[in-house]
Amino acid sequence: MTDKINDLLKRVAEFSPEAAAEVEEFRIKILGKKGELNALMEEFKRVAPEQKRELGQKLNALKNAATERIAALKAAMADSAALSAEGVEDMTRPGSADGIGARHPISIVKNQIVEIFSRLGYTVAEGPEIEDDHHVFSALNFPPEHPARDMQDTFFIEKNPDILLRTHTSSIQVRAMERTQPPIRIVCPGRVFRNEAISYRAHCIFHQVEGLYIDENVSFADLKQSLLYFAKEMFGEKAAIRLRPSYFPFTEPSAEMDVSCNLCGGKGCNVCKGTGWLEIMGCGMVDPNVLEANGIDSKKYSGFAFGMGVERIAMLKYGVKDLRLYFENDVRFLHQFDSAL
Ligand code: PHE
Repeated sequence: MTDKINDLLKRVAEFSPEAAAEVEEFRIKILGKKGELNALMEEFKRVAPEQKRELGQKLNALKNAATERIAALKAAMADSAALSAEGVEDMTRPGSADGIGARHPISIVKNQIVEIFSRLGYTVAEGPEIEDDHHVFSALNFPPEHPARDMQDTFFIEKNPDILLRTHTSSIQVRAMERTQPPIRIVCPGRVFRNEAISYRAHCIFHQVEGLYIDENVSFADLKQSLLYFAKEMFGEKAAIRLRPSYFPFTEPSAEMDVSCNLCGGKGCNVCKGTGWLEIMGCGMVDPNVLEANGIDSKKYSGFAFGMGVERIAMLKYGVKDLRLYFENDVRFLHQFDSAL
């Protein structure tokens, strides 16, 4: 009888069915009323009393092992049936990889600009996108009705001409001057809004990084050197800059800064329109009127300011020809920046 028990135990352990029906068949054969286990139980009644104890324990162990094994096989069959209903048939097939996100090119370039100036000791300042006339225009030396207000077509809010969407992040610089005395050394990244027709080179929303440095004895030479450093860090060691006289109400003297075209190396191409130069920012010495209007002594302090469009820098850096691509979230465009910073 011991041999029969051991043989059955072995068959239970080795049983490996391919379908759920086989498990049920096996259960009936072993555990059913007329099954092998009950046959052994009948036999057990007839064994000698001195063997009862040992064989009884063996039979119990066999019964438990068979019950457990059959229950486990049934559960496994039910799971795989559910999986194949979901269409997952081959559990050894490699899974599909999750795509990881990437930074938007505008964020990449904005972070780079901020990081370059932070190496020169600038800290980041931020301010509201919905502003008032004072912080965007009046405190920056734009008199009322001054035609320079038309340089930037403004979105006004709720028929109240005093509340508007900032047209430049210079408003953050005004807030910094109101709050603190020099030395002030800040960069102001942020979204700005202008009522312009959308085209490949203009959008009604774009991003700027502006900067402001005020201290004793700050000169135009400091401005030039700081911006040359920026150009070289951003566009490479070979980058050269040139400053052309310009006009802004809040700086005097004012300039537009060009950087040598990094696509043709200054020889002239269709991106730089044959000139070898690309315009990248406005800058100048802060007008003493602006310092005084914001509570800073213009006899003691002087400073410079600059401002650039992030989309434009990113276009030049990556050779992007249409500014609208930045706003459309086409992943075929965005994935090209996966490996950047
Ligand atoms: N605020 C100017 C603009 O948005 C840029 C600028 C900033 C020019 C600082 C000079 C100095 O066009």
